[in-house]
Amino acid sequence: PTIFVITPTYARLVQKAELTRLSQTFLHVPQLHWIVVEDSPHKTPLVTDLLVKSGLTYTHLHMPTAKDRKLQESDPSWLKPRGVEQRNEGLRWLREDRRAQPGGDNQQGVVYFADDDNTYSLQIFEEMRSTQRVSVWPVGLVGGMKYERPVVEGGKVVRFHTGWRPSRPFPMDMAGFAVSLKLVLANPEACFDGDAPMGFLESSFLQGLVTMDELEPKADSCSKVLVWHTRTEKPKMKREEALQAQGLGSDRAVEV
Ligand code: UGA
Ligand code: MN
Repeated sequence: PTIFVITPTYARLVQKAELTRLSQTFLHVPQLHWIVVEDSPHKTPLVTDLLVKSGLTYTHLHMPTAKDRKLQESDPSWLKPRGVEQRNEGLRWLREDRRAQPGGDNQQGVVYFADDDNTYSLQIFEEMRSTQRVSVWPVGLVGGMKYERPVVEGGKVVRFHTGWRPSRPFPMDMAGFAVSLKLVLANPEACFDGDAPMGFLESSFLQGLVTMDELEPKADSCSKVLVWHTRTEKPKMKREEALQAQGLGSDRAVEV
């Protein structure tokens, strides 16, 4: 089955670096269709050009985050959920596009939400490829922990190893699960709720789709970390700004 990877992305200094790393990881994954959704009122030349040259099978979409929902430069990063409208736009496209294909609602495929800054082992894609409904696995370096993971007993997920509100319906990071395309198509209303309280975004999508009992543990009964919630440092521009003030800033024609 094809893996449909939905990636929200937004313009910032490190965007091209993030998307370059991600796209070059995906080049090593067979049967992958990348759905890139820009948080922007239009498709940008930077992302358009990167995708054209990527060598990947992709769909390029855009959907701006509503102004009152958008994280401002001065806000702490946890204040508002990120990538919500973009993931929902990816789901909307996928449902519409798949219905138009032969086979309609009954199609093989797996849907994964891959943020542009995480680190993905190639093995995680082979683990998720056999997803029947919803598969799950550990995520490294997340939630103020070395890792978070579903705890598996007798082949079933019985609870979650997490440092924060384990009572959440699905206390997992976005990078820690994949959903079968069939389930996504059979539940046309399932989407991410931007109004969900902090930490409940993943649950808002999964709640209507599965129960804990039905989760399919991957990565050796959730004993291996194959994806990491890495976050990229914001580059300092102190020297750049000082030079710019003297009219000696870096050439704007050079895309970074
Ligand atoms: C954590 C989770 O890993 C995310 O999946 C979840 O969306 C997020 O928290 C949340 O609570 O909303 P974190 O590393 O804090 O992630 O978030 P980012 O990596 O900054 O953003 C997640 C995705 O949304 C990225 O692909 C990013 O490019 C995109 N994004 C971020 C936008 O499209 N627009 C923005 O304004 C910010
Ligand atoms: Mn992130």
